[in-house]
Amino acid sequence: MDGTLTIDGLDLSAPPPGRCLPAGAFTSAAVFEAELGRIFARSWMHVADLPELCAAGDFVAATIGTTPVVVVRGHDGELRGFLNACRHRGTTLAEGRGNCGRQLRCPYHAWSYATDGRLVGVPERQEFAHCDLGAMGLVPIRLATLGPMVFGCLDAAAPAFKEWAGELAEALGRARGAEMELAFDYVYDVPVNWKVYVENGLEGYHVPIVHDFLNDFVATDGARHFFEPHGSYTHARIRPEFLATVPPLAHLSAEEQGTVRFGHLFPNLIPVIAPADFSYLRIDPLGPERIRLVARSFDLGGELAALRELRREALDRTNQQDIGAVTRVQRGLHASRHATGVHSSFLEERIGHFERMVSRALAA
Ligand code: FES
Ligand SMILES: [Fe+2]
Repeated sequence: MDGTLTIDGLDLSAPPPGRCLPAGAFTSAAVFEAELGRIFARSWMHVADLPELCAAGDFVAATIGTTPVVVVRGHDGELRGFLNACRHRGTTLAEGRGNCGRQLRCPYHAWSYATDGRLVGVPERQEFAHCDLGAMGLVPIRLATLGPMVFGCLDAAAPAFKEWAGELAEALGRARGAEMELAFDYVYDVPVNWKVYVENGLEGYHVPIVHDFLNDFVATDGARHFFEPHGSYTHARIRPEFLATVPPLAHLSAEEQGTVRFGHLFPNLIPVIAPADFSYLRIDPLGPERIRLVARSFDLGGELAALRELRREALDRTNQQDIGAVTRVQRGLHASRHATGVHSSFLEERIGHFERMVSRALAA
C-alpha cells in the first residue's frame, strides 16, 4: 500500500487509477528539490554515448541530478565514471566533451589525474605532507553501457543496471545497438517540468492531433503496452507504406521489422527503437519549470544512412510539435495547484504507471 505523502502541502501519494498527480507537483520548487535527491540521485541515469568515447582520453562531462560527473576512456581501454570534482578543493575537472590527453588536469592549481582516476601530479607536493595523496584519486561512480549509451549511478544501493534496464537491453542487443553510429542530434531548452515532458512521451492519445509525420509513420491502433519496475513500453506497428521505404534487415524477424517500440526508462529517458535506427529523448531537469531536452539518433550507417535526412527533419518537426503542446500544459498547470487531471484507461495508461513510480520513489 502507498501511504500518504505530502510535500509543499501537496498530496503526492500514488493517485488512484485514472487520476493524475496534483498540478502543483509539476510547478513546486520543493517537490523538484525532493525529486533531485530521491529520484535522480538514486537512479541509473544516461550520461553519455559511446561514439564520443572511442579513443583513450575521450571524456564527457554530465550531471546526475545536480552532481557533476565525468566519463573517461582510459589508456587501458576501460570506460570509467567519476565525480567531476578535484580532490583538492572541488573544481570540476572537465566541462563539455573532448579529449584530455593522458591526464585530467585541474584548471585551478593543476592537480592532475590519470585516466584511471589516480592522482599523479601535485604542484608543491611537499606542502601536503599532512595528506595521504595516494588515497586522493577521483571518486568512482557506477557505470554501465547499453547499445550506444552510457549510464551512471551515484547510489550503491540501486539495483544492478541489467535489472533496471529490463527490455531495453534485449531490444537494443537484437537491433545491434552497440554497433550504431551517431547520425544527428538536437538540444532544446523547454519551459516545462521534467515530468510533463516524460508524460507526453508516454501517451499516443495526442499523436493524431499534434503530429503529422509521426502519425503517417506509426499506427496507434493495435498498440500494446508492457510494464516493468523501472519503465514501460508501447509496441506499435509501422504503417506498411512507410515500411516499404526501408531496406530489409537480415538480423531482424519480419515481426521486429514492422514494430517500433516507444519506451521509458525511469526517470528521464525516452528510448525509441525502430527497426533500422535508435533514438532517445533525454529530459534533463534544470529547474521546477525548465528542462534541457537532448534528442539523439543512431543508425548502422551504410545504406541506412540514406534515410538520415528524412529522419532528421522528422525528429525535429515532431519535437517542435511536442514542445508547443507541453509548453501550454505547463502554463495551464498554474490555474489550480490542487487540481488533479485524469488520464484515459488505455491510451494514457503508462502515465499512471509513471506517476506511481514517482510517488513510490519520493516516499522511499
Ligand atoms: S581545486 Fe583542483 S587543484 Fe586546486
Ligand atoms: Fe508527441
